Amino acid sequence: MSAGFVTERLAGAVGVARAAVLLREGKLVAFGTETVYGLGADATRPDAVAAIFAAKGRPHFNPLICHYADAEAAFADVVADATARLLAARFWPGPLTLVLPRRVTCRVALLAGAGLETLAVRVPAAGQDLLRAFGGAVAAPSANRSGQVSPTSAEHVLAGLSGRIAAVLDGGPCPVGVESTVLDLSAGRGFLLRQGGVPEEAIVDAIGPVGRGITPGQAETTRNLRSPGLLVSHYAPGLPVRLGATEAADDEAALAFGALPSGGAARFQLSGGEDLAEAASRLFEGLRWLDRAGLRGIAAGPVPDRGLGRAINDRLQRAAAPREGPR
Ligand code: TXA
Ligand code: MG
Repeated sequence: MSAGFVTERLAGAVGVARAAVLLREGKLVAFGTETVYGLGADATRPDAVAAIFAAKGRPHFNPLICHYADAEAAFADVVADATARLLAARFWPGPLTLVLPRRVTCRVALLAGAGLETLAVRVPAAGQDLLRAFGGAVAAPSANRSGQVSPTSAEHVLAGLSGRIAAVLDGGPCPVGVESTVLDLSAGRGFLLRQGGVPEEAIVDAIGPVGRGITPGQAETTRNLRSPGLLVSHYAPGLPVRLGATEAADDEAALAFGALPSGGAARFQLSGGEDLAEAASRLFEGLRWLDRAGLRGIAAGPVPDRGLGRAINDRLQRAAAPREGPR
């Protein structure tokens, strides 16, 4: 659907400068990070942040991650304890998001944090040139329509948001391919809200055991309030997804980690050499490519549940979940 203007496609140093100007004007600019493309706006402008929710069709209660050029800039907006500083030193720039208490001086629009007293901050490894050129906090969810598969290329962004955003800054394909790991440190102890580009094992190696997204007895509604993006049905292709498939029917598409199962009208191998990092980087591309009219569903083969495989399985489970709630 077109909102009446042409989305500029930007690249290179000239594109970075233009993208920074657009952000300063309060416009929406999608840009590549190492995980997925983000839909960026000046985080301090409520009008620009509101435009993100409108362009995505995203429920307003789902808070956004703020992106910074470095840890010093991020920690000027949130209160970082020793654990946060240790994790930042080890994993930033990189695919880790930390949820921390907002400082009273934080100028990020309340809407960006959906009114929560915490703020999710991250220093991405890619997209640095834009963050430096802009010089402030950039609020950015994944640059897809709400509930759809996250984009890992400028083409994916345009397929969903062309005509709805001012520009896309083409940074090439995203090397990690799944979203950042989201770790809540606001309650003192680490609490893993989303599996992502930094494997849980690496976090545990750095700071010891962490809690998981769903604590026993925590009601679904409470969980959703804590991190609404954890809504079960999310990241979904149009076709239903069948998990743990060891074979595919003639009217199904087949998605496999290593060896492809027999059958399948369309087939996509995540990693011939069974490399989890390569598989993660190709996951969303594969889901998009297999999502074809006329087929019954996507048969997804098993993926080892370790390292980046945890994030892959998390996204596949969401893609397979029954459709309910905001998507
Ligand atoms: O890799 C990524 O994280 C990408 C790139 C663009 O940086 N961004 C991304 O954003 O995946 P988004 O909006 O699709 O997911 C952000 C997640 C959601 O699950 C949201 O609920 C959670 O972070 N989140 C954001 N702020 C939070 C907060 N204050 N407390 C708890 N969860 C929060
Ligand atoms: Mg998203």
